[in-house]
Amino acid sequence: MNINAAPQIVGLASQGITPGYMSGFGNSFETEALPGALPVGRNSPQRAAYGLYAEQLSGSPFTAPRGANERSWLYRIRPSVKHSGRFVKADMHRWRSAPCLEHDLPIAQLRWDPPPMPKEQMTFLQGVHTMTTAGDVNTQAGMAAHIYLITQSMTDQAFYNADGEMMFVPQQGSLRLVTEFGVITVAPAEIAVVPRGVKFRVELIDGPARGYLCENYGGAFTLPERGPIGANCLANSRDFLTPVAAYEDKDTPTELYVKWGGQLYATQLPYSPIDVVAWHGNYAPYKYDLRTFSPVGAIGFDHPDPSIFTVLTSPSETAGTANIDFVIFPERWMVAENTFRPPWYHMNIMSEFMGLIYGVYDAKPQGFTPGGASLHNMMLPHGPDREAFDHASNGELKPVKLTGTMAFMFETRYPQRVTEYAATAGILQSDYADCWRGLEKRFDPTRP
Ligand SMILES: [Fe+2]
Repeated sequence: MNINAAPQIVGLASQGITPGYMSGFGNSFETEALPGALPVGRNSPQRAAYGLYAEQLSGSPFTAPRGANERSWLYRIRPSVKHSGRFVKADMHRWRSAPCLEHDLPIAQLRWDPPPMPKEQMTFLQGVHTMTTAGDVNTQAGMAAHIYLITQSMTDQAFYNADGEMMFVPQQGSLRLVTEFGVITVAPAEIAVVPRGVKFRVELIDGPARGYLCENYGGAFTLPERGPIGANCLANSRDFLTPVAAYEDKDTPTELYVKWGGQLYATQLPYSPIDVVAWHGNYAPYKYDLRTFSPVGAIGFDHPDPSIFTVLTSPSETAGTANIDFVIFPERWMVAENTFRPPWYHMNIMSEFMGLIYGVYDAKPQGFTPGGASLHNMMLPHGPDREAFDHASNGELKPVKLTGTMAFMFETRYPQRVTEYAATAGILQSDYADCWRGLEKRFDPTRP
């Protein structure tokens, strides 16, 4: 339990003040930006301190089992009913939700170049470019994989997503997420997760930003079981950081946007809804530095399944069949003996959307560049290209360190549908499948 009084960042979220964080994953946190703002020993006192309103934000049904039950108590200047009003439909731009069958691209292994940074002014709300959708937003199952391009901070605007939690994976440029729970800064090689229903705005820190965004319609991301690995390694709980409370008491007009049921709605407020002075609970945004992931792998022979690199998982009702696994391919040593070390050739019932944050991915040394993406959909074959195959088949198997690389995968049980933007925006590589063309027949029955 932590109590963090952090008056130094009250109302200064937009002025570059370094945020403070509490460490741990899924803890019952408590934090207050004014001393005594949190009630002691109860959630809903007759009168909350400082004239605040007490409000519960439920991220799970009330009756969810204890291990999956998520809620927080917020002590705020105005209750959220005052952050609501007459909504009008707003332009979704290039943001899409499942089911989205707007483009009928034939099945194929697909790869995209990084989308260039746009010249026009584009906030987060205009800059979400959906690449794929999977499942159904109306049944709380599946996901969408987006690339965001942002050239302008949101000002006098706030947003929340009722359809899913959002995992930001920056690739270029840092973001400041000014949330009602506090302020998170997130840079390339870090991720940040904002749960559904949490109000926030997205600001730029060091110029235009590009990155990936996983919109999770299903169960909240959680740490995967470690099984025989034991109590340590992979993603460790203490490396997850949740912000301390920070609020704005700002009576300036604010547009509130809500994504609900695959549509975007907007309403006008006369004040900022980022007005939570104190909160406690286990439903809150967090960040994580991917470089603190401790990879475990083959120290004898063979290549384990990529699930060994799972950072977070969104479980489904079927054990072991994830709604989404978030998997990374970080710096690591390759030491396996008499082993084809890159990922093997395979077909998979799961559907794999990959991105590259920096460096070179070992199975695709050419054509898969930082900011780009690839899609290996359900039961479509894939594996190393000719160059990677030759190198791995003939190289000396001494210990090799893969350095300066960070690729990731959003892997889902649902087939991923390509959006019209992804199919037609000019970044789709027409020759991707040619990377396997050079894999000639090598079979010779006279040479065992
Ligand atoms: Fe794969």
